[in-house]
Amino acid sequence: MPLVTTTEMFKKAYDGGYAVGAFNVNNMEIVQGITEAAREQHAPLILQVSKGARAYANHTYLVKLVEAAVIECPDIPIALHLDHGPDFETCKSCIDGGFTSVMIDASSKPFKENIEITRKVVEYAHDHGVVVEAELGSLAGVEDEVNVSAEDSSYTRPEEVEEFVSKTGCDSLAIAIGTSHGAYKFTAAQCTRNEQGVLVPPPLRFDILEEVSHRLPGFPIVLHGSSSVPQEFVKMINENGGKMPDAVGIPEEQLRKAATLSVCKINIDSDLRLAMTGSIRKYFAEHPDHFDPRQYLTPARANIKAIVTHKLIDVLGCAGKA
Ligand code: G3H
Ligand code: 13P
Ligand code: ZN
Repeated sequence: MPLVTTTEMFKKAYDGGYAVGAFNVNNMEIVQGITEAAREQHAPLILQVSKGARAYANHTYLVKLVEAAVIECPDIPIALHLDHGPDFETCKSCIDGGFTSVMIDASSKPFKENIEITRKVVEYAHDHGVVVEAELGSLAGVEDEVNVSAEDSSYTRPEEVEEFVSKTGCDSLAIAIGTSHGAYKFTAAQCTRNEQGVLVPPPLRFDILEEVSHRLPGFPIVLHGSSSVPQEFVKMINENGGKMPDAVGIPEEQLRKAATLSVCKINIDSDLRLAMTGSIRKYFAEHPDHFDPRQYLTPARANIKAIVTHKLIDVLGCAGKA
């Protein structure tokens, strides 16, 4: 089937109590690792491309890689989504260039300005059969060159969501309930430690999610910053020359719970980066004489496939839902 929008996927996910995984893609091995997992698990899939990915790999290369994946995976619905579109022009370029979904991220702007920019993107996107994700509230962490400090981040205010959605016409809404981007989602001071000395982060604000869902019945909610930072990857990196002390993510059981509620799209990027980097560091440490990129990219791609398979089955609950 050709690339699809997320409309049908989200309706089924909402009704079925699961979420669709949105994984960031930057090169061929990442596209292949993710799509091989989704094909095998018969899972609906969102492949997302950030402004940084377009700058790194080139819009056309990324679209063509995703089109190749669509040919290789004829039995699962795949959407191609712009992640954190910074402005109207970037969204327009992706809408004109083959994407089926875009995010306009004006969450750092004042409420009224966020509405105006989002509305403009929605009008253009809907005229072209493309759906739009918007954001209210801001996450801490790093996305492209925007670095939001923990002090500047703010939870979504549920009392704003109805006005925002009705005035913008957006198709899904990303909210801030305590997730953040990157591999260091919480400082050690924000966490407690379990018996093994592993950091345990504070729980997500499910009260905000529930209030938002109550005000927007049936409306798909998106969670960004949803990597769990698997400690086996952090260990693999640290044991093979890396240095990532106290990296910590969102516990998987909390994401699973969110997926059973109104959260229909869960964004995961950092966990794939950790899988890839861990594999490559280990390979280099074990084979210092090898220099063929296919040798170290093969286990890296396999490890991406393995972590995505785990997410589809155990976290998102979308395996078998294509
Ligand atoms: O939200 C951020 C995603 O992980 C994409 O990261 O902007 O470095 O490509 P990037
Ligand atoms: P992570 O950094 O937690 O993987 O979040 C990715 C994301 O939100 C992409 O938009
Ligand atoms: Zn994000």
